[in-house]
Amino acid sequence: MPVVEVENVSKKFKYQGKDFFALKDISFDIEEGEIFGILGPNGAGKSTLLNILIGILFPDSGNVKIFGKNPLKNNDLFEKMNFVSGETRFHWALKVKDIFEFHGRLYGIPKNKRITETKKLAKFFEIERIMESKFSNISTGERMRLIMAKALLNSPELLLLDEPTVGLDPDIAIKARNEIKRINKELGTTIILTSHYMHELEQLCDRIAFINKGRIVDIGTVESVKLRKFATYDLIIKVRSVKNKEFLRKRGFVIKGNILKKELPADENISETLSMLAEKGIEITEIESRKPTLEDYFVKILGGKK
Ligand SMILES: Nc1ncnc2c1ncn2[C@@H]1O[C@H](COP(=O)(O)OP(=O)(O)OP(=O)(O)O)[C@@H](O)[C@H]1O
Ligand SMILES: [Mg+2]
Repeated sequence: MPVVEVENVSKKFKYQGKDFFALKDISFDIEEGEIFGILGPNGAGKSTLLNILIGILFPDSGNVKIFGKNPLKNNDLFEKMNFVSGETRFHWALKVKDIFEFHGRLYGIPKNKRITETKKLAKFFEIERIMESKFSNISTGERMRLIMAKALLNSPELLLLDEPTVGLDPDIAIKARNEIKRINKELGTTIILTSHYMHELEQLCDRIAFINKGRIVDIGTVESVKLRKFATYDLIIKVRSVKNKEFLRKRGFVIKGNILKKELPADENISETLSMLAEKGIEITEIESRKPTLEDYFVKILGGKK
């Protein structure tokens, strides 16, 4: 059974008195243990979708099921879920330990378990040192780790992350990404993630959905989604000296000085080409294969040029 089932979900908002669809006829499933990424330009409907899944917003039409049940009729489902937003803030005067205590109580976790879970999470996210600090005094990276730790207090089976690394230093963002992967691997948590950082989605997600103007444009593994838009990639080879020019041209190489360039089908490996060059006694000094990134895909699907 999928952990999340979204079926024909639409959501309208009003803008200057007129209705518009923030989400239109969205359908997809997420399986247990997946990291599922949602990408798309500003205003595409990503946060709206997450807010529907966590019960903050109601869809105008369509159905959502979490663990096979309608979350709007089964409030207890929210005990198995948690949500992280890069924009989450707590009261400035609260100490970090108070934030754990407050949310632990909110989730109805008994005192003993609250204490042990808080200890365990503070250790996992390496924030033991700031437990006595006020929220206003902790750094951005510590805040993000605190938010992530707090979101695991109720041991969620489903975790929703809306731009979890926004505004973080690259080194802290790398740590946060590692944590996301670790939570997924070690605790088996199913994760839904939105991000503007393409490499983040590429690195973390088992599958992604690209949303544009409230509709799903593409869905699948990162590789399969890219393959649909990019049939070829460039192979650039620097050689010591070019021999057999005619032969190389016939094999599809463009020759410039001692650089050979060839467009390969997306599913073709470079080894065949390399061994063919070796057989002809051509000595290779450098190789570069320019495979399209998710960023290239993003730009292409939105009709821009890179
Ligand atoms: N409560 C609301 N009332 C009216 N319009 C809204 C509301 N919430 C969102 N919108 C609009 O709905 C659209 C989708 O917004 P949403 O926040 O889901 O986009 P997003 O994909 O998360 O964008 P971003 O990448 O900027 O975070 C936007 O045009 C936004 O202005
Ligand atoms: Mg958003």
